[in-house]
Amino acid sequence: MAFLELDGLVKHFSSFVAVDGLSLSVERGEFVSLLGPSGCGKTTTLHMIAGFQEPSAGSISVDGVDIVDVPVNKRDIGIVFQNYALFPHMTVADNVGFGLDMRRVAKATRDARVRRALEQVHLEALAGRYPKELSGGQQQRVALARALVIEPKILLLDEPLSNLDAKLREDMQIELKLLQRELGITTILVTHDQNEAMALSDRIAVMHGGRIVQLDAPYQGYEHPETPFVAGFLGKANLFDIAAASEAIDWSRIAQSGGPDVSATLGKRGALLCVRPEKMAFCSPEEAYLSGVVATRIFLGASWLYQIKVAQFGTILVAEQNRSASDKVEGSAVHLRWEPEHAALIPGDGQ
Ligand SMILES: Nc1ncnc2c1ncn2[C@@H]1O[C@H](COP(=O)(O)OP(=O)(O)O)[C@@H](O)[C@H]1O
Ligand SMILES: [Mg+2]
Repeated sequence: MAFLELDGLVKHFSSFVAVDGLSLSVERGEFVSLLGPSGCGKTTTLHMIAGFQEPSAGSISVDGVDIVDVPVNKRDIGIVFQNYALFPHMTVADNVGFGLDMRRVAKATRDARVRRALEQVHLEALAGRYPKELSGGQQQRVALARALVIEPKILLLDEPLSNLDAKLREDMQIELKLLQRELGITTILVTHDQNEAMALSDRIAVMHGGRIVQLDAPYQGYEHPETPFVAGFLGKANLFDIAAASEAIDWSRIAQSGGPDVSATLGKRGALLCVRPEKMAFCSPEEAYLSGVVATRIFLGASWLYQIKVAQFGTILVAEQNRSASDKVEGSAVHLRWEPEHAALIPGDGQ
């Protein structure tokens, strides 16, 4: 049995089903993200683990013990909310010490633990300030220290970085990952940001409509999405309808050179081939799987992003690392291929 086990969790709000039979096993020290669009049930799942919401059905166990009937303050779980929820009238140190005061920890121990938690998030120097005297990033660190100071068994993070600007968010992601590894604390992050989930997680649970639709390590999920939803949620994807594409693409050539064998899926509804934009390469007409015309070219610094109009498929995205200036102006005729093993087969509904 894993350290944290969610088994068949369901949450109804009257007739509405927010979480619809969610099961997840998280190992001790693991970092798992719940990734999905707004409204898919991420926060509700986190709130059931924390004890703020009671499951309509299913069980939650930590270290082999069912915790569904254990009150919030006895669960040994630290939580960081999106809006930080700091107490405005308390100093940084008192905000961080609050959970220890509630637990009636002796003053000397309390003060030492507050100091250590503030050191962990590099805020020792600001212990006497009030929240309004802090930047967004600093407030976020206080919220993290407040969650860590109780030395929880599990850390829950609900979109903790989404109020920070992009540069700070990336810095904080790295800091958070290093701290999580150093402390070895079992962590569940809720986010709708696939880059954040990829950067931080050991595994990502992609959620849709109250369920986990795929659970994989970031690389595996990105390279081998099992549904079009997962393909699109974990990054940009070119999805080719296999049935419709058969005239344009010589599948036997792709299969012979190591690509997925699509022949078994040709009769199935919804079977797709997924090729990520950065796996597409410009090539000679003889080597090409597809040909088209550059519709737009966007310079992103590290890469060029092209939208290519291909007669049979509409618009295809191609990303090319910026090693030199691009000679592919809008209107240029181009030819495309990819390494056959870089295409993932999405099998469809089997009909
Ligand atoms: N207390 C509540 N009462 C009624 N509906 C709720 C309540 N909390 C959440 N919901 C609904 O449940 C769904 C899932 O919400 P939530 O878990 O907050 O989604 P997420 O965090 O993935 O954006 C949403 O449609 C939301 O409106
Ligand atoms: Mg939410």
